Amino acid sequence: MEELLKPGLSVKEHDESRQGEALMLDGQQNAPNGRKLYIESYGCAMNFSDSEIVASVMLDMGFETTSNYKEADVIFINTCSIRDNAEQRVRNRLREFGAIKKHKKDAVIGVLGCMAERLKAKFLEEEKLVDLVVGPDAYRDLPSLINQADEGERLVNVILSREETYADISPIRLNSNGISAFVSIMRGCDNMCSFCVVPFTRGRERSRDAHSIVNEVQELSKAGYREVTLLGQNVDSYKWTSEDGSENVNFAALLALVAEVDSNMRVRFSTSHPKDITDEVLHTMAKYPNICNYIHLPVQSGNSRMLELMNRTYDREWYLERVAAIRRILPDCAVSTDIITGFCTETEQEHQDTLRLMAELDFSFAYMYIYSERPGTLAAKRYEDDIPAEVKSRRLNEIIEQQHKSGHKRLLAQIGKIQEVLIDGFSKKSDKDFSGRSDQNATVIFPVDERYKPGDYVKVLAESCTTATLIGKIVD
Ligand code: SAH
Ligand code: SF4
Ligand code: F3S
Repeated sequence: MEELLKPGLSVKEHDESRQGEALMLDGQQNAPNGRKLYIESYGCAMNFSDSEIVASVMLDMGFETTSNYKEADVIFINTCSIRDNAEQRVRNRLREFGAIKKHKKDAVIGVLGCMAERLKAKFLEEEKLVDLVVGPDAYRDLPSLINQADEGERLVNVILSREETYADISPIRLNSNGISAFVSIMRGCDNMCSFCVVPFTRGRERSRDAHSIVNEVQELSKAGYREVTLLGQNVDSYKWTSEDGSENVNFAALLALVAEVDSNMRVRFSTSHPKDITDEVLHTMAKYPNICNYIHLPVQSGNSRMLELMNRTYDREWYLERVAAIRRILPDCAVSTDIITGFCTETEQEHQDTLRLMAELDFSFAYMYIYSERPGTLAAKRYEDDIPAEVKSRRLNEIIEQQHKSGHKRLLAQIGKIQEVLIDGFSKKSDKDFSGRSDQNATVIFPVDERYKPGDYVKVLAESCTTATLIGKIVD
């Protein structure tokens, strides 16, 4: 493989806690217009994936990218609204960006993504230095919006679409390590979990043409990529029908189509919803060795009354049964989750139910959050955000502590076993060590062996672990 390693971000999986990573370009730009674009992305993997669509649209206009916002002519910030602190971070960053207008009056500052969609024209009133507010379904309109902004206008396009999937736009892989890529398979969400802003910021659920997904994965395979992560807010409800009605593809069928593109290409996906994940999907995972043994299955709470108030449409027993099905059909499959603590009216007993569920299932990873009321959501309208901040923090700490125990236990169980690892770069601490990920998505660190390079698969014997990482050595 040619030298594909680029400095910077190697995005591993959806993690909304990731903040503001400037994306660097891995690609060529067409017919330069002499102007530079800087994009910074916040939020989930879907937002990072959207930034790659935005970059593609902007490169077609002749922009080139820069990783230094101070030298940019256009600054985009692709934003997240999921929790209040995500929005605060963006506002602070906008203040820094705004400062460059003092000496660069023509610079255009655009707010993209979920916060743009949530706040719409209000953003222009609240943030005087912002020129463009562009929602997630309006990125095809960017060339026209930029041209008008160049004339000094301040504009908003937050029209949501029932059809837009950007299926025909080839994403420009940003900050890529040349090994792993995201592929969006659907947009929007119809679930209306009561705490969640996403259905309002991303609009109705729609699935992308299966052929365009398979084509994109084929292109990635030809370009030497070794791992794709299929993205959607609820991948299990993927459903695409061809215009003449002759082809019907559900998520299990899509997984099989993607897995068959290249048996050397790992396939991952995120996020699964407990109410929708089917045995058919699990059997498809079992059938194809290149579909990784890893499922992110957000539970949110271990208590059925909480789950009902959250409008998750499953209860504790249903969730336990789904995990039992995973362990039956895929005995080596790692399961990770998301948890919200301190949701409206959550009692101490109900919090204990979450801790018990975590202890019973021993998740491999978890993203754990304090409930943050979002304006306009069902929960904001119907229920009081009544758990005091200090109780929320204490509960979160207990949940984190439980997860440390479970995660560590899962890693300890891997010691002495041989892992198939895809090398994705070098250890952050030392370039004498490779870093990679196991099939189950654990980070594995092991000494560099000159016969191998990033992008190769190796067999690694796990010999020890820290709280979050396996440490081992290559075995032939
Ligand atoms: N579509 C995915 C999750 C998308 S948002 C799913 O349904 O699982 C990612 C995570 O953010 C959620 O799983 C939830 O745990 C958390 N989250 C969403 N809204 C939140 C809020 N208002 N406060 C705190 N955490 C929230
Ligand atoms: Fe939000 Fe629920 Fe949709 Fe996930 S499934 S994006 S939590 S509404
Ligand atoms: Fe955030 Fe929007 Fe994703 S709210 S989590 S960037 S869908």
